Amino acid sequence: MSLVFAINGQRFELSLSSVDPSTTLLEFLRYQSPFKSVKLSCGEGGCGACVVLLSRYDPVLQNVEDFTVSSCLTLLCSINHCSITTSEGLGNSRDGFHTIQNRFSGFHASQCGFCTPGMSVSLFSALLDSSSSEFTVLEAEKAVSGNLCRCTGYRPIVDACKSFAADVDIEDLGFNSFCKNSLPPFDSEKRVCSFPEFLKDEMKSIDSGMHPWCSPGSVEELQRLLGACKANRDGLSVKLVAGNTSTGYYKDERDRHYDKYVDITRIPEMKEIRENQNGVEIGAVVTISKVIAALIEIRVEKLFGKLAAHMEKIAARFIRNFGSIGGNLVMAQRKQFPSDMATILLAAGASVNIMSLSRGLEKVTLEQFLQGPPLEDYDLVLTIEIPFWHHQSYEFLFETYRAAPRPNGSALAYLNAAFLAQVKDRMVINCRLAFGAYGTKHAIRCKEVEEFLSGKLITDNVLSEAITLLGKSVVPQEGTSNLAYRSSLAPGFLFKFFHSLIITEKPSSNGYYHLDQPKPLPMLSSSQHVPINDEYFPVGEPVTKSGASLQASGEAVYVDDIPAPANCLYGAFIYSTKPYAKVKGISFKENSVPDGVLAVISYKDVPKAGQNIGLKFSFGTEPLFAEDITLHVGQCIALVVADTQRHADTAANLAVVEYETEDLEPPILSVEDAVKKSSLFEIYPFLYPQQVGDTSKGMSEADHRILSSEIRLGSQYFFYMETQTALAVPDEDNSIVVYSSCQTPQYVHSSVAACLGIPENKVRIITRRVGGGFGGKAVKAMPVATACAVAANKLQRPVRTYVNRKTDMIMTGGRHPMKITYSVGFKSTGKITALELEILIDAGATLGLSMLIPSNIIGALKKYNWGALSFDFKLCKTNLLSKAIMRAPGDVQGTYIAEAIIENVASSLSLEADTIRKINLHTYESLALFYKDGAGEPHEYTLSSMWDKLGVSSNFEERVSIVREFNESNIWRKRGISRVPIIYPVSMFATPGRVSVLSDGTVVVEVGGIELGQGLWTKVKQMAGYALGLLQCDGTEELVDKIRVVQSDTLSMVQGNFTGGSTTSEGSCAAVRLCCETLVKRLKPLIEKSGGPISWNNLISQAYAQSVNLSASDLYTPEETPTQYLNYGVAVSEVDVDLVTGHTTVLQTDILYDSGKSLNPAVDLGQIEGAFVQGLGFFMLEEYITDSEGLVLTDSTWTYKIPTVDTIPRQFNVEILNSGRHEKRVLSSKASGEPPLLLAASVHCATREAVKEARKQLRMWKGVNDSELMFQLPVPATMPVVKELCGLDIVESYLEWKSSVN
Ligand SMILES: Cc1cc2nc3c(=O)[nH]c(=O)nc-3n(C[C@H](O)[C@H](O)[C@H](O)COP(=O)(O)OP(=O)(O)OC[C@H]3O[C@@H](n4cnc5c(N)ncnc54)[C@H](O)[C@@H]3O)c2cc1C
Ligand code: FES
Ligand code: FES
Repeated sequence: MSLVFAINGQRFELSLSSVDPSTTLLEFLRYQSPFKSVKLSCGEGGCGACVVLLSRYDPVLQNVEDFTVSSCLTLLCSINHCSITTSEGLGNSRDGFHTIQNRFSGFHASQCGFCTPGMSVSLFSALLDSSSSEFTVLEAEKAVSGNLCRCTGYRPIVDACKSFAADVDIEDLGFNSFCKNSLPPFDSEKRVCSFPEFLKDEMKSIDSGMHPWCSPGSVEELQRLLGACKANRDGLSVKLVAGNTSTGYYKDERDRHYDKYVDITRIPEMKEIRENQNGVEIGAVVTISKVIAALIEIRVEKLFGKLAAHMEKIAARFIRNFGSIGGNLVMAQRKQFPSDMATILLAAGASVNIMSLSRGLEKVTLEQFLQGPPLEDYDLVLTIEIPFWHHQSYEFLFETYRAAPRPNGSALAYLNAAFLAQVKDRMVINCRLAFGAYGTKHAIRCKEVEEFLSGKLITDNVLSEAITLLGKSVVPQEGTSNLAYRSSLAPGFLFKFFHSLIITEKPSSNGYYHLDQPKPLPMLSSSQHVPINDEYFPVGEPVTKSGASLQASGEAVYVDDIPAPANCLYGAFIYSTKPYAKVKGISFKENSVPDGVLAVISYKDVPKAGQNIGLKFSFGTEPLFAEDITLHVGQCIALVVADTQRHADTAANLAVVEYETEDLEPPILSVEDAVKKSSLFEIYPFLYPQQVGDTSKGMSEADHRILSSEIRLGSQYFFYMETQTALAVPDEDNSIVVYSSCQTPQYVHSSVAACLGIPENKVRIITRRVGGGFGGKAVKAMPVATACAVAANKLQRPVRTYVNRKTDMIMTGGRHPMKITYSVGFKSTGKITALELEILIDAGATLGLSMLIPSNIIGALKKYNWGALSFDFKLCKTNLLSKAIMRAPGDVQGTYIAEAIIENVASSLSLEADTIRKINLHTYESLALFYKDGAGEPHEYTLSSMWDKLGVSSNFEERVSIVREFNESNIWRKRGISRVPIIYPVSMFATPGRVSVLSDGTVVVEVGGIELGQGLWTKVKQMAGYALGLLQCDGTEELVDKIRVVQSDTLSMVQGNFTGGSTTSEGSCAAVRLCCETLVKRLKPLIEKSGGPISWNNLISQAYAQSVNLSASDLYTPEETPTQYLNYGVAVSEVDVDLVTGHTTVLQTDILYDSGKSLNPAVDLGQIEGAFVQGLGFFMLEEYITDSEGLVLTDSTWTYKIPTVDTIPRQFNVEILNSGRHEKRVLSSKASGEPPLLLAASVHCATREAVKEARKQLRMWKGVNDSELMFQLPVPATMPVVKELCGLDIVESYLEWKSSVN
């Protein structure tokens, strides 16, 4: 019996007996097929990198249905007779790229490109869905709403999607490389592969019973099968499979062995939707997407529309397309999954039809189902019935609610609710009030409140009492995160629901009885002002990103896409779960070596000639494996090596490390403890920032002082879409080649050589491209590559690893957390005279690059003229995970600290923060005092004029008044607006390059810098085009198309240094320019000799004939002083805070950023937007939480929330300022990679303004008269954080106040 399917039109037939039924489609695609465009990023349904199009033929209807699924959760056996299309199946470099892929490239919508194939397929599917109707802008925005991208900030992706919409005005689309009005519409027929005919002929049923995977075609057949399994003497374990998406949440399920996998999706009764006069009956395996479509279709029942709208917020479309309604309810019932489905169907009065082997058929209410004992393995949910309500004689109201970090789904709710009330003459006849997902076993009905409200007219007092009763029912279980916040949401939702029925005793005179109607999220819009500078053509042109179409089609090769060499093995890390303990031994659960395991590599396997080194850098070395004692949780103890990545991962999960802590000092788990125990790293004096002026004098001149105020900042995880990965291949003569996804090949090289104890000329590190780095693939990539190298060396076989997301999150670490204590002195005008800081930085257990953090903090913090500035830094050595340098490391904290101080000063003087900011902006003189040579020439200081310019272009003053008016007339939503400046110093580094011209006139370029998505290759190509173009022979205008930048190879290009600090593109361009100048010098005599015009190709032919050296390499070294220069930017952000949920919507952000003379404004625009959105994540969303011993708890896409399409500014305007000549820069350009991240502080500051208004109102309600509004808004300002500051009891306080004024 075989499994037959097609991938991109290619037929695959596998014998069912040979397939492990737990194999996922992704595993098959990536490890057993040539199609690598499908990427693995989370492996749990939370990112969309693995999305494929699944097409299924219906022989009865004779049509093909197409929909997306996440291949990481879909089981291979589920796709029998299906056709799978990946992005390279839509279009590719050989057959021609698809319009979608070209659109992604033309809209500059791809950076590292790791998310782009998934995005392309998601958009393709959304376009197919709408091919009968019209694809609208609204659908365009939703097309990729579940797909994560860490680089672009989404705006260009959404524009690429919108470019297909029928209702879009091309003029309104963002910056792109297409001529206006020339965008062809989507043609569903135009793709490389369509549904293959051969599959239509092969629709045979799969034999049930014989194989571990079976697929019964009727309930009776299923019943027989289950009965037989149960009756089997050994009690065969059975897994019923619908969409299998539950394994995204219950990941242990994947490693569990089942004797039988029973596919229940072919049973007719279970996949139908039937409507009768009482309601609708939905088969349990009907997918959520189909349920939504059906509910929308049944228009007579208004309640169904609301259910459908809520269901659209469950997961992402590619999960809803395969995940079933029954599967969801079973997860909720059996495993306490925080389901939305259960809550909303509970309120809608649903019931469930069950087929039990022991009890036969039974129908129970959903409530009984949820409350009953967990469904047995052999029991089946057949159908779900939802009754009609419109037949009832009373009017009824129905609403559903959910509070979640992402408004449009792809995030579990903190609490969800659904309410149904039958009402007559505003009296509640009866009601059903359901709540769920708040840390309860299952969704519940609040019967006590329902009974209390029945038969009552709703008044403030009645509602108040109902809310008090509710407080006793909606109580999260102990240990639930954000417990108080979750409970506080219930009264808010109840209040919103019943508010319209409130009978007001006295009419309101002050407008306070108006409840702001919930509004849908505004549509995204944007504008970009991008100066094009053709002085150094083609440098300065917004050329599309090199290789963007290849990235979109998924053909771009990342380390894990390199085909596995023969005999390849796979590694997975075993990490410490104790912060400071002796390692007594490593074994596996049940003392048996798991399947496929070949070795457990530890420090004992480091060759004798080598050392246990995982990182070698200019600051020193760090161990690869823990030796006798672990230094922190997440430290690498060993690498388990197996025949497949899955076996290696499973084995690492099964590993048991025996620890002993006897006789050991307790671990240092806080910066305070580190200081107490003098556990500190030294900061080299040349890296210690310099104080400015005399702070004692400044303090004495101050009218006011705030003393010893404290701020704490947490960490942030990189969340590159491609996790850490390497492939090590032993080569002849004891040498080794390592393919590493890293930003630091030179240092990976030294680390591997030192660890293996071999000379550096026997090591070769190759890095072609990296799927996002953000600093995380600098030092943290070194041990990953080195561990593979040690294993490969020991086993003399290639060893690769692709670290799974959870392990990556636990082992890699992120930004440096810190504790800041400051004293600030200031005049009554707001002019600050002195700032004194004490900063304790948690560097973790090892030093890494932490020594750079103090100067970075101060570099960004000095953006204001503090009068005088002094500080004391302590770099604390703790037993916590070593921190890494993440995009804008220290700088983002520095900027935040500055703003927190400004806000504190403003509050204490009762002045606007904007006034304090302006008054303390630098003049050129003070800038020169604070930044010394880095300040550059006076004309280069553009910040103060940018401050005013953005004030005008963003309409700042007028909007401040509008916000004020809004806040006066709205009580449940408050707005805030804030303008924030940034200064960001960067330094130039030595960077090598080589340019070689081949005999056909094409050019190959090598540089030290790595393409991480930041557009380095594109800029380098432009620079080579410009510099060789100076020869001015025929054909040099098209030279850019002949240039190819190739992978970094540490034996070919030495001294590659590291890619980071925002200036590697500039440095690489400068190196390439030097090489080109050499080539130009060598070629010029030939032109002169030729006497007349000569074509480029002719010139090169002659040069070859005359043996002119056409390969030039050079090392760019920055001029001695100054190597540092300053970057400037200003942002204005306006937010809207929902006081009931604490949710913040960023309504608008306007950015003005000085790019000097941009080398490529399209690339720089992408960097600005992408960095800003990553900063938005840091300030508003991303909680990188650990337990008390330092083990990361938010270790998955379920708990760690990076921004998505629906969390970015609804109006996102960016203007790039061309600030003219900068003699000491590379063609007058400036950096764009990191500085704009800091501008996201404007969102945080605006949120604080909104919260301030909410607190003022709450104080008024509570009758607290003090005008003190000093408070700190922590980072990240998540929904619970914001709500807590706005008042968890806000609804109760309002009702109390209202009854007191009535
Ligand atoms: C990334 C992600 C985000 C999500 N977000 C949300 C969310 O915000 N809100 C929400 O409510 N849900 C959410 N879900 C849950 C999602 O709705 C469920 O995973 C899906 O509906 C399960 O259906 P399935 O067909 O894939 O079930 P499966 O995974 O196939 O099955 C789930 C379990 O139920 C059993 N089973 C399945 N069908 C039956 C049946 N008919 N009778 C008896 N047993 C059965 C299976 O054996 C298995 O144990 C999310 C899921 C993912 C992966
Ligand atoms: S890898 Fe499948 S959704 Fe993330
Ligand atoms: S381009 Fe989207 S993750 Fe890098």
